Amino acid sequence: MTRISVTVDGVEYEDDVEPRLLLVHYLRDRLGLTGTPIGCDTSNCGACTVDLDGASVKSCSVLAVQADGCAITTIQGLAGPDGWHPLQRAFHELHGLQCGYCTPGMIMASRDLLRSNPDPTPDEVRHGLEGNLCRCTGYQNIVRAVIAAGAELRTGTASPDGAAAEGTSAGGSRPEVAV
Ligand code: FES
Ligand code: FES
Repeated sequence: MTRISVTVDGVEYEDDVEPRLLLVHYLRDRLGLTGTPIGCDTSNCGACTVDLDGASVKSCSVLAVQADGCAITTIQGLAGPDGWHPLQRAFHELHGLQCGYCTPGMIMASRDLLRSNPDPTPDEVRHGLEGNLCRCTGYQNIVRAVIAAGAELRTGTASPDGAAAEGTSAGGSRPEVAV
């Protein structure tokens, strides 16, 4: 067993883990954070994507011991005190999901994409999310949602880490996006 210290969604944990334990299993089975799903056994689908020290990673391809000393954000830590992250709202309002299985990973990967490219084109969104598979939506509304959330973040109606700016409504109107 190896001792690790991690901060997950703002909470500090210390645990003894087997060196072979995958981060996704640590999050789900040890910490009970089942908002991060497992969608494949080949590291292909991206459903398990989380933020590890500022970069999105597939948590099924990272060992828990590799996260020692790191800060992790999962989909469950994304909402702020004022409500959902703009990406969460945009996916909801623009129907960027059907079964929702891919959605946690899509949103975490999209957050990383918007940090490096705050104003992506539809093609850039598709390219940025090519490591995340959706079996339901056909992707069109996912692309619309990411672009709409990017616009909201750029125009200052939400903070980069999610919460709507003071005075804005969590259910506010969305910019129209042509894809
Ligand atoms: S569960 Fe991690 S990529 Fe599919
Ligand atoms: S909404 Fe079902 S896999 Fe994407």
